[in-house]
Amino acid sequence: MPGEGRATLRWHEVVTVRLAGGEKVSLRKPQIKFAELAYGPIDGVLTSPRVGEQMVGMGYLDAVSEATLEGMAKETKPDGVKGRVNRVWNPETKRMEAGRFGYKCNMPTLRAQSAGAFNGDIGITSPLFPDENCTSVQKACQKAPNGGSPELSAAQLDEVEFYLAHLDVPPRRNAADPVVKRGEVRFAEIGCAACHRQELKTGDGAHFPRLAGQTIRPYTDLLVHDMGKGLSDRRPDGLASGSEWRTSPLWGLGLTAAVSESGFYLHDGRARSLVEAIVWHGGEATKARDRFVRLGKDEREALLAFLNSL
Ligand code: HEC
Repeated sequence: MPGEGRATLRWHEVVTVRLAGGEKVSLRKPQIKFAELAYGPIDGVLTSPRVGEQMVGMGYLDAVSEATLEGMAKETKPDGVKGRVNRVWNPETKRMEAGRFGYKCNMPTLRAQSAGAFNGDIGITSPLFPDENCTSVQKACQKAPNGGSPELSAAQLDEVEFYLAHLDVPPRRNAADPVVKRGEVRFAEIGCAACHRQELKTGDGAHFPRLAGQTIRPYTDLLVHDMGKGLSDRRPDGLASGSEWRTSPLWGLGLTAAVSESGFYLHDGRARSLVEAIVWHGGEATKARDRFVRLGKDEREALLAFLNSL
């Protein structure tokens, strides 16, 4: 069937930031253009590029209770950090629930996220998303043969969910190294841990008993935060505005470059290094970012060594 069109991605260097000690960091932004549109113009359609998210520890994040998320949102935090729970539709329970997956917390559970990806990304229907993902003008798509209604059974979705929920987090490397330890102290000291929470507890009522009542170290609060104009995609999602993003879990971060094709960071892969990712922080993270920029070279490198040990 005819493809929807062609997307081209161009990068623009937008600003150069000078770190303490003189090192310069150039920040780039993506611009997406669409061509050869097979089904008419898409003016007014909001688009936003994404890199795939890390796929570790998801069962644990799924098992953090809504009450824990609401509790963190209500806490008073330093540096003007706020953070809130996105409320989104759960196609399984048919209720609005706390969002926790996706770059703007637009999916409530691992099961909904998985079924949503089957449907939205690769066109496979399931009990949660029984309708083919074709628009009314995509006649060939509507008429294409399918593998049943739905294509994925509840039992198959169970298996996929079980598998994803139990993909564990890689063990840390060099955690006892004195430089890494110093970086860990700096991380908390300059305010990174206000959002990238070191420790969370999973709820007792977790869907998979092995994941219940555990202490985890995801370095996220699973809340959305206003990260400033620079990171805004001007595309709201549920309660989350264009500039609100979910605090990225940092566990496994040191292995991102090894397992992803690119070693790029942030929601759209604009950051070519951890330093660029941090310097892009704005909004509620402005104070923490400024403290990072002012760190001396040795302390900055210690902080990066810590991040790479996760
Ligand atoms: C106000 C909350 C907040 C604070 C404070 C904060 N971050 Fe973040 N961080 C985020 C959010 C939200 C994202 C995701 C942004 C995006 O993808 O556009 C993120 C993303 C990142 C990433 C990229 C992760 C990835 O896999 O792409 C790194 C690295 C990071 N933060 C490190 C830090 C460090 C180091 C500090 C302290 C200097 C810090 N953050 C302070 C909220 C925060």
